Amino acid sequence: MSTPHIDATVGDFAKVVLMPGDPRRATYIAENYLENSRLITDVRNAVGYTGFYEGVEISVMPSGMGMPSAAIYITELYRSFEVETIIRIGTAGGFAPQLELRDMVVASGCITNSRMPELLLGAPDYELGPTASLLNDVIGMGAAAGLTLHSGTVFTSDIFYEPDEELNDRMIEDGILCVEMETAALYALAQIEQKQALSLVTISDHLTTGARLSPEERQSTLNEMISFALQVASNQADSIE
Ligand code: HPA
Repeated sequence: MSTPHIDATVGDFAKVVLMPGDPRRATYIAENYLENSRLITDVRNAVGYTGFYEGVEISVMPSGMGMPSAAIYITELYRSFEVETIIRIGTAGGFAPQLELRDMVVASGCITNSRMPELLLGAPDYELGPTASLLNDVIGMGAAAGLTLHSGTVFTSDIFYEPDEELNDRMIEDGILCVEMETAALYALAQIEQKQALSLVTISDHLTTGARLSPEERQSTLNEMISFALQVASNQADSIE
């Protein structure tokens, strides 16, 4: 059954979905990393694909930018398409001085300036985090692959063009690693729908030093994250079967 934003049927999606922000990145992943991939939905150019990675069925579906957009796709995937696990892959702006451009961060926790989690969960004292077993797996797999993988709390913001000039310093003081715009929605919805979720980001720009990746560096860094996330996704899919 189609939903308002996904024109597909239940069996079209794999149990595990990789979720970049950018629809073009979804196409890039399907074309370059998946075998026998097929387009399963394209409502509003949000192109979703299902294919195989090392023999394991995986879907890719973009979130768009920001929590309202991401929450629409995440809710419909979990509720209507029998998706069990969503792994976000994205970019983030680094706060923490120890983070270098291209480093990967797994969001072991998440804070936000949005009211969305409180409204969804119905209580102000919520905690947001990934599925514990998935986090453990990712940390183990990152170490085995020799990746620089930081694990810590990320800040999900509703604001890209942040007017608060002191925010950066407060985040560093509080030990928050980086800022992005979707993870809090993913973690809140996984909690409500009793599904699995994990958010992985690479540092594309550094808010303390002003450093940012060139377009070429951005692509090669994303390639690294895509490969890693696909390994995590296929490992997860195997454990669901
Ligand atoms: N802010 C919010 N989201 C982001 C940023 C940022 O600076 N960089 C990459 N995603």
